[in-house]
Amino acid sequence: MEKIKEDVLACKKCSLYQERNIPVIGQGSYNAKIIFIGEAPGAKEDATGVPFCGRSGDFLNELLNHIELKREDVYITNIVKCRPPKNRDPKDSEIECCKGYIERQIEIIKPKVVCSLGRHSMNFMMNNLGIENKETIGNLHGTVFKGKYIFIPLYHPAVAIYNSSKKGELKKDFEIIKKYVD
Ligand code: URA
Ligand code: SF4
Repeated sequence: MEKIKEDVLACKKCSLYQERNIPVIGQGSYNAKIIFIGEAPGAKEDATGVPFCGRSGDFLNELLNHIELKREDVYITNIVKCRPPKNRDPKDSEIECCKGYIERQIEIIKPKVVCSLGRHSMNFMMNNLGIENKETIGNLHGTVFKGKYIFIPLYHPAVAIYNSSKKGELKKDFEIIKKYVD
């Protein structure tokens, strides 16, 4: 994990390194049973180097709390480690350049469960796992895919902040995760 940190800090594989302040490598336990994968750092994450430290992060903490987990018990990161300018979506080419880091993080931590947060992260993971996907996140969230590890796509916590029905669905999906890590 130290080597990954060094590599990301020195990385110039895509142009996102030019405008980022601090790359967000990831946070949490290297022995975590669960990895959460968001999309890319936002402004607050870029200023601190801490994943999900803004409003979506507060809700993510609430969701973890809902299943009696702490941030220190899990590992949280993103597909893309540097903030895209003006929070635009990361491009496919940037995801392609950066994906080696998340692959190495999963390889080292060997989690029981990997959860994607949001549509982009879900699509990335399904592609990466070779799962054919014609469905939307509205149909797939909370689905349990069993392979080398369990993969569960989830809504991004940001979409739930102003939408209480999605908030409830996320809570229910977290209860599914709980079953697999206990
Ligand atoms: N949204 C994300 O996808 N990742 C973060 O780290 C913060 C917000
Ligand atoms: Fe390197 Fe990823 Fe940052 Fe691009 S986003 S410069 S690939 S660490």
